[in-house]
Amino acid sequence: MAQVISLVQEKGGAGKSTLLAVLASLMNDDGLNVIIVDTDPQQTTAKWADKDGSNIDFLTELDDTRLTPTLNQLKETYDVIFIDTAGYSSVMTMYAISEADLVLIPSKASEPDAQGALKTYQHVKNLSDKQKHSIKAYIVMNDVDKTARITDDVRKAFDDNKIPRLNAILWSRTGLKEMISEGGAPKGNALSAAREVMAELQILNAINTKKRV
Ligand SMILES: Nc1ncnc2c1ncn2[C@@H]1O[C@H](COP(=O)(O)OP(=O)(O)O)[C@@H](O)[C@H]1O
Ligand SMILES: [Mg+2]
Repeated sequence: MAQVISLVQEKGGAGKSTLLAVLASLMNDDGLNVIIVDTDPQQTTAKWADKDGSNIDFLTELDDTRLTPTLNQLKETYDVIFIDTAGYSSVMTMYAISEADLVLIPSKASEPDAQGALKTYQHVKNLSDKQKHSIKAYIVMNDVDKTARITDDVRKAFDDNKIPRLNAILWSRTGLKEMISEGGAPKGNALSAAREVMAELQILNAINTKKRV
């Protein structure tokens, strides 16, 4: 059965599309059969995946009533399905959560990001409690300045609220911006930042790294 990984955070600009693009690239390069379903009308990941140099399957699904049937079809073929979502709460984002095995919630080191992440986590928890399969969720700190005091404050807000958070951080890297505008997989310092996040997800057993047989 394919694993569904949704990137959700109701605050826009927190790094959903960036984190999705790097993780999908690494898994695709590892030989897994990966597809991205972009449900965000802004189409950031679909545009990235459509560029020369990007070598990853993708499709757009903007009709919330169609997300479940679309996923059911894709699950027959793919090992991993990534869902990108818009930066606001909607019926579509609730579907993206309840269809997921894993929800990743990026948060930059700012109060609006932290508040958006806390609310998003609460949605995941409410939906997970209601259904048969449990939905794992982790906050991923993104685009962070190591030395800023706000970074510690935001991290503490998550820990005080007992919200699962990766220790790995997707560091602030110009290479990540270039990757989204140029297409293709992360390179150089963007790649090493991405690998740290991927390694922790593997240690936590949060992602499937096995190909279907
Ligand atoms: N770790 C990072 N380092 C540098 N720039 C980043 C990083 N993460 C995100 N960005 C930049 O922040 C902006 C918003 O990121 P994006 O992934 O589009 O967020 P979202 O999909 O949540 O709206 C983009 O310009 C992106 O290039
Ligand atoms: Mg986006």
